[in-house]
Amino acid sequence: MRIRLEHVSHIYGSSDESAAVQVLDDATIDIASGDFAVLMGASGSGKSTLLHLMGAVDRPTSGRVFLGNNETSSMGEGSLTQLRRTAVGFIFQFFNLIPTLNVFENVAFPLSLAHLGRAEISQRVSATLEQIGLTQRTAHYPNELSGGEMQRVAIGRAIVHRPPLILADEPTGNLDSANGTMILDLIRSIHESQRPTIVMATHSVEAASYGDYIIEVADGRVGGKLRIEN
Ligand SMILES: Nc1ncnc2c1ncn2[C@@H]1O[C@H](COP(=O)(O)OP(=O)(O)OP(=O)(O)O)[C@@H](O)[C@H]1O
Ligand SMILES: [Mg+2]
Repeated sequence: MRIRLEHVSHIYGSSDESAAVQVLDDATIDIASGDFAVLMGASGSGKSTLLHLMGAVDRPTSGRVFLGNNETSSMGEGSLTQLRRTAVGFIFQFFNLIPTLNVFENVAFPLSLAHLGRAEISQRVSATLEQIGLTQRTAHYPNELSGGEMQRVAIGRAIVHRPPLILADEPTGNLDSANGTMILDLIRSIHESQRPTIVMATHSVEAASYGDYIIEVADGRVGGKLRIEN
């Protein structure tokens, strides 16, 4: 899925001008379908905000955001929710698993919103657990897993509905380097096998080296693409 931002500005808290924070200022980005793009920039530069706009979690204060042919500012809440559920998989720094659901149920969660039959859900979740290497942990709860395992479950949840767009916000920020490398290798293998568009925000140079190019974010402005030579 191609992702485009056209002259996007974003202001938080714009109803109260004294508290308003301008986070993005005239950002234009074009990410081709199947690209693995990396966002880098200082803390507070606007990376997570960009991911929220790309994931249809939020709409820009001005400018236009396209997910494929869908322009988010022209869409109502209902169709935005539908777009997010079907087209986007999110991976976060703090995993965000549901503590009362086991591994199988956490991974199955996006499918439970998609009106699929039990057999179809079970088959898809099993295939995903295989892919993330957690078939031995299906009945475990999040508090019984290591950090690396929790992140693998979160990745399973992000890919189980086969979204054309995967957004990762510092996916290795909370892991040691061995687990971080394992997660990055998993993200790379998903990219190579399913060819989703991936946009990943990171502070890590090692993580960035997994992408096709880096887009630098500084003071609400985005730079050109810096190709990564591997
Ligand atoms: N909901 C919000 N309301 C008000 N201000 C916000 C909100 N979310 C983010 N901000 C502000 O917007 C700016 C950009 O935040 P953002 O989370 O996009 O940065 P970031 O680049 O992801 O930083 P980090 O590397 O620390 O995750 C920050 O100054 C932040 O304080
Ligand atoms: Mg952030």
